[in-house]
Amino acid sequence: GKVAVLLGGSSAEREVSLKSGEAVLNGLLSAGVDAIAFDPAERNLWELKSLSVERVFIALHGRGGEDGTIQGALEYMGIPYTGSGVLGSALAMDKVRCKHLFKSAKLSTAAYAVVDANAGFDADAIMKEFGKVMVKPSHEGSSIGMAQANNALELTTALTNAFKFDEQVLVEQWITGREFTVAMLGDEALPVIEMKTPRGFYDYEAKYQVNSTQYFCPADISQAHTAQLQIMAKHAFELVGANGWGRVDAMQDENGHFYLLEVNTVPGMTQKSLVPMAAKAQGITFEQLVVRILEQTL
Ligand code: DAL
Ligand code: MG
Repeated sequence: GKVAVLLGGSSAEREVSLKSGEAVLNGLLSAGVDAIAFDPAERNLWELKSLSVERVFIALHGRGGEDGTIQGALEYMGIPYTGSGVLGSALAMDKVRCKHLFKSAKLSTAAYAVVDANAGFDADAIMKEFGKVMVKPSHEGSSIGMAQANNALELTTALTNAFKFDEQVLVEQWITGREFTVAMLGDEALPVIEMKTPRGFYDYEAKYQVNSTQYFCPADISQAHTAQLQIMAKHAFELVGANGWGRVDAMQDENGHFYLLEVNTVPGMTQKSLVPMAAKAQGITFEQLVVRILEQTL
């Protein structure tokens, strides 16, 4: 039957999703799948019915596409879709609730505070507690609205900016160290990737706009560390109720200790993205990868 690749959408990550969706569509077409592109920002979702679409590949990032809303609409319409269901999608999109879950499951994650736009905050108290911090809108992706803060003034600026994106903002203790990611396909963790950027952290520019980011896959860490990180990723993925495919981000501090950052249920899927990179290291081509993700909906 016909497959619709949902791409674009109306979130802050629209541009990234257009690229992911185009790559997914081309991958499916070259694998011989009858597929079309469908942008729910421009069309009514019910058109999927008149187009006789039998399955959907969700390549939407961010709110309205990765957060359970489209998933719920598709459930209602009776159309199977790739990736996580309503609950897993909604939870993974909520960084604050994920932190609460990680903490209660005793999964290693950086110390944090939650700041609500309507409640006010004491920047000095937060800096006194954590030292350097990372500020993150709770429901964003691709590092949008994120900033590092080294003092109370920078924290106030970072929070004011983050509130433009979200009423709930996560403030995490800064971790100095290395950045890693683990792609998940089905319930299998793929080879670990390390991202190295000369920028302060792996931000929007480092992800999509500059050529200075370096990727190492498989990451240059011991087998024991690799296994530890993959187990952690799998645990986090299951904990938030994610399934099908995704990507779990983590950091390692200077003492070799790992910290979970977050779970992504619709990670970037451009030809240069991390999940395709990890799949390739496992001998899975881009075409095989999109077909395997699609097969999870059967
Ligand atoms: N949110 C972006 C698309 C990612 O996780 O890859
Ligand atoms: Mg994310």
